[in-house]
Amino acid sequence: MNPTTLSLPRRDFIGGALALGATTVISAQHAGKTPLLGPILGHSDETSAMVWMRAVAEGEFTLEVTPESGGKAQLVKQQAVEKDDLCLHWRVTDLKPGARYRYRVLQGEKVIADNSGQVLTTAPKADAPTKVRLAISSCAKEDAGSREVWNRMATENVDAVVLIGDTPYIDSTELEKQTQRHREFAAVPEYQALLKSRPCWWTWDDHDFAGNDSSGLAVGKENSRLVVTRYRPQREYGDGSGGIYSSFRRGPVEVFILDTRWYSMTEPSFASPHKPTLLGAKQWEWLQRGLLASTAPFKLLACGVIWDDKENTESDDWGTYKHELTAIQKFIGENKISGVILVGGDIHASRVLRYKTAKTTGYDLVQFIASPIHGSTIPSLNVYNLDLVRSAVEPHVFLRVDADSTVTPAEFHATLINKNGETVFSYHLTAADLQSKA
Ligand SMILES: [Fe+2]
Repeated sequence: MNPTTLSLPRRDFIGGALALGATTVISAQHAGKTPLLGPILGHSDETSAMVWMRAVAEGEFTLEVTPESGGKAQLVKQQAVEKDDLCLHWRVTDLKPGARYRYRVLQGEKVIADNSGQVLTTAPKADAPTKVRLAISSCAKEDAGSREVWNRMATENVDAVVLIGDTPYIDSTELEKQTQRHREFAAVPEYQALLKSRPCWWTWDDHDFAGNDSSGLAVGKENSRLVVTRYRPQREYGDGSGGIYSSFRRGPVEVFILDTRWYSMTEPSFASPHKPTLLGAKQWEWLQRGLLASTAPFKLLACGVIWDDKENTESDDWGTYKHELTAIQKFIGENKISGVILVGGDIHASRVLRYKTAKTTGYDLVQFIASPIHGSTIPSLNVYNLDLVRSAVEPHVFLRVDADSTVTPAEFHATLINKNGETVFSYHLTAADLQSKA
């Protein structure tokens, strides 16, 4: 929710290395002022994990990964170079599912990042009965309250973190500004401490993409994407040249992290050619393939915006793109896709809505809205809605998701928790609630 915009050459992540498309060098002087950032963890799956760090100067750096149970260390080398803003992405492969590994970073013989908390855990085998705990939220600053939330997520022992936008606030697409804000956000000690031992996935909302209520028409959005590809270690970024959507599986949950900014308003909608798009055709095709292929009991569709109308003057919500929401619902119903749960952020209020969509989707769709991590709430956005089942206008919150497939039917328990660890509200679902009744 508030505004601005800007541009740049793109870089994509190719097989564990950074491939830079020409130009764009942040000045060494600017770069030199920033301390070492990280290491933190990005995408991981059953057999691989990604580790990120920003070096203070160019050079070769080695990631050393050792099974916690003992055994041979794996070494992965990467070059920190100014043209990638000194950001290092290591991808370590050939790991065992559901296993713990210690890691550290060396420059030559010298150990430069070593901490007993530097542990990475691979995902358990996809269909093995297991429990997983996620933290999901949006709208964070570098303030004390946001820092307490990072600490609380760690105290709650979450297995993974999903940040769905306005994380951080940037309000510009200028390369320098985007870079500066990502550095400031990544420099928060509590954020680093949280993510040194659990993977994180990110998408953006308006303020980290370009500015308040911004769409895919924002000038300079390539800069925002470039900085995300530098600062956030993901397996893939959108379609490879546009967007930043991604997905991951952790135990009984698969999370589809949608990009509801990059493509919005940029082309006719796949659902209705006379209306604008939100997801864009490429992302929609990716999502359909992913939903059809997923064997997860719970399939989260997570994005920055909310899945209904904010009922204010802004247009960045699914209420503006009902035609695409309807297409998703029809797709779920026609293909009998079970377990879909909607997740949104953005509005500085937290809510649970249960929609009477059984006729279309085969079961009632539920939406969880989790916001804000920082301290400013917006009571006016907690609007009346017939489908509302929980709501709270509470600062410094996140949604703790506990999913359990060791029981039948699998369970999904979502609890909104504040920085003090107090439960604000909770809502329980089982896989049986999310099965097609048709
Ligand atoms: Fe926000």
